[in-house]
Amino acid sequence: MQIIRTIKDMQKWSMDRKKEGKTVAVVPTMGFLHEGHLSLIDAARAAGADAVVVTIFVNPIQFAPNEDFDSYPRDFEHDAALLREKGADAVFAPAVTEMYPAPVTCMVVENKLSKGLCAKTRPTHFNGVTTVVAKLFNATLPDIAVFGQKDAQQARVLKRMVRDLNFPIRMVIAPIVREADGLAKSSRNKYLSPEERGRALALSRSLRAAKSMVEAGEKDMAKLTAFISKEIEAAGGKVDYVEAVDAEDLEPCPVKGEKPLMIALAAWFGTTRLIDNIVF
Ligand code: PAJ
Repeated sequence: MQIIRTIKDMQKWSMDRKKEGKTVAVVPTMGFLHEGHLSLIDAARAAGADAVVVTIFVNPIQFAPNEDFDSYPRDFEHDAALLREKGADAVFAPAVTEMYPAPVTCMVVENKLSKGLCAKTRPTHFNGVTTVVAKLFNATLPDIAVFGQKDAQQARVLKRMVRDLNFPIRMVIAPIVREADGLAKSSRNKYLSPEERGRALALSRSLRAAKSMVEAGEKDMAKLTAFISKEIEAAGGKVDYVEAVDAEDLEPCPVKGEKPLMIALAAWFGTTRLIDNIVF
């Protein structure tokens, strides 16, 4: 497994693979890898990738000044060992100075899907994500890019970026990987005390309950989002948002119709903000 630090070397590696006739996939991450991240490598292979590059870069411009950029967990050696074991072909782990040698004055901005949900409390976040992912695409030159449904809004925003800016990249969205008890795997779960972790199970539990209610015929989404909020508050969480939206264009969706619908949420347990979602 190659460990690559510069954009130039990364581009060369990718072009060399393509000359060999290989299909290149990228899995962008911020590291501190868990099985959710590793499942994206399987999804890349299933989508036909012959060469998979995982990027590890904690992107400063997607964190607001009051957020956890400095304390975001990092463990490159452990990540590299996991990726080697998983059979990744390359890791692209550039320094901040390689990605941002000078202050950025040109950004990629998505103006619709990146407005609601998480953007209400993190208004500049998605501009940082679209910009860094565009840069990572230009560094890794992939045929396929894989993202997780865990960050559902991010995946939709990036799909829109690829569509609107004509990146010649096939986007794959892989399902959420959960702990045995239902908690969605996340690098930020490390921040939770054992007690907070127990209380945070209210997220996946209430989403599952909402799904059963829909399957039993409930169509009024306001009832379900109110139920989920109540469950989270009862568990001692603080709700950021619970919303029912169209699963693709993220438009508010008060009544369940024919099209796939998503309930997405964010909530605080202690100082940790967690997100989760379910699609029906
Ligand atoms: P990060 O939070 O490290 O996540 C990297 C990728 O792993 C994302 O596509 C995310 O949706 C996916 N992922 C995380 N937890 C998952 C889980 N439990 N199941 C399935 N997939 C999961 O998302 C980012 O990094 C950054 O914003 C990035 C896109 C790399 C840009 O900096």
